[in-house]
Amino acid sequence: MDVDRCAFDVLQLNTPLVELIRETIRSQGPQSFAWFMQQALYHPEHGYYSSGRCAIGRKGDYFTNVSVGPLFGQLLAAQFSEIWERLGKMNDFVIVEQGAHDGQFARDVLEFTQKRLSEFFDALRYRILEPFPILQERQRQTLEAFGDKIDWRSSPEPFTGVHFSNELLDAMPVRLISDGTEKLVGLDGDNFVFVERPVDKTMFNQAAVESIDEIAANLQRGYVIAFDYGFLDEEFERTVQVRARHRNLDSPFEQIGDADITMSVHWRSIVERAQANGLRVAGFTDQHHFLTGIISQSESGDRGQSLLADSVKAKRELQTLLHPEMLGRAFQVLALAKNVCPETKPLAGFKFARQLGQSG
Ligand SMILES: C[S@@+](CC[C@H](N)C(=O)[O-])C[C@H]1O[C@@H](n2cnc3c(N)ncnc32)[C@H](O)[C@@H]1O
Repeated sequence: MDVDRCAFDVLQLNTPLVELIRETIRSQGPQSFAWFMQQALYHPEHGYYSSGRCAIGRKGDYFTNVSVGPLFGQLLAAQFSEIWERLGKMNDFVIVEQGAHDGQFARDVLEFTQKRLSEFFDALRYRILEPFPILQERQRQTLEAFGDKIDWRSSPEPFTGVHFSNELLDAMPVRLISDGTEKLVGLDGDNFVFVERPVDKTMFNQAAVESIDEIAANLQRGYVIAFDYGFLDEEFERTVQVRARHRNLDSPFEQIGDADITMSVHWRSIVERAQANGLRVAGFTDQHHFLTGIISQSESGDRGQSLLADSVKAKRELQTLLHPEMLGRAFQVLALAKNVCPETKPLAGFKFARQLGQSG
């Protein structure tokens, strides 16, 4: 047995967060996995994200598109700029980002637009929806150079422009429900265990679906672009992933509050809720096709300027983002539109996309 690791686990089992979760279960009985996930990730003081312990990138717990390097933000900046043009180059175009972590994506987008898309830069405002003060503080530091180009909100308000998120939906609390049975989090002595209970037909991803209600209610005109990993429908696999230090942990009860917990996104339920709220699907494809479409459009466009820096680093970033065995196929992109005429020509990112529902 690895003694260091064993000692580490014992320490983890007695953190204030773990004690607090145990106390609730002792006094109120087994709790839904959504409640457990809410505590582990978002407890105001001790949660993995809300405490600021979350670390993304090489020295952190996992990689995201954003942590690969600035190229992801640069390509998305080109897509946002095309949307701005389609909406008539308005002056009060807002990019709303939710789940902005340390503000790196915002910086990549703003640095690129300032340098390469200056007319768009002058017309845009950047808004970060951030409920956690410690993350807001980090974002302010990262984005200091952009002054009042950026504003922060802890809850959404009406805007025209684009709502963007990368790996937001997969981080929202889920219930573990399958075939009329729900797995609740209970206790066996001091150990967390799953306890099964029958459950009526109910939604497992309520938080993610309700977040669409909130976005739809506030988007006056424009698009929602969400990147995440998941499945459209039939092939949907409910997999909870627990990640710490680039390792997949066996159980969500390991390193509670120090590990990330996510669940693959059920895109169909997101799409249906969006449609019920008056949003229209403007495209759905995998990341590989989406980013390839943006690159292709920029190279064939009248500006004729390549988005790709001619450096070894940029080439490596591009390969990581596009390669089917890296992030290219694992992630999908959904775009929703509101009060925008149906596109006669798809957005650049969907140039090579198939119809919603076609795989591959
Ligand atoms: C997996 S991280 C992704 C971070 C970043 N977008 C990236 O790609 O590197 C998920 C982020 O979503 C944030 N988050 C979760 N629920 C949120 C909500 N309701 N509003 C705003 N941010 C939220 C978390 O705090 C966390 O920063």
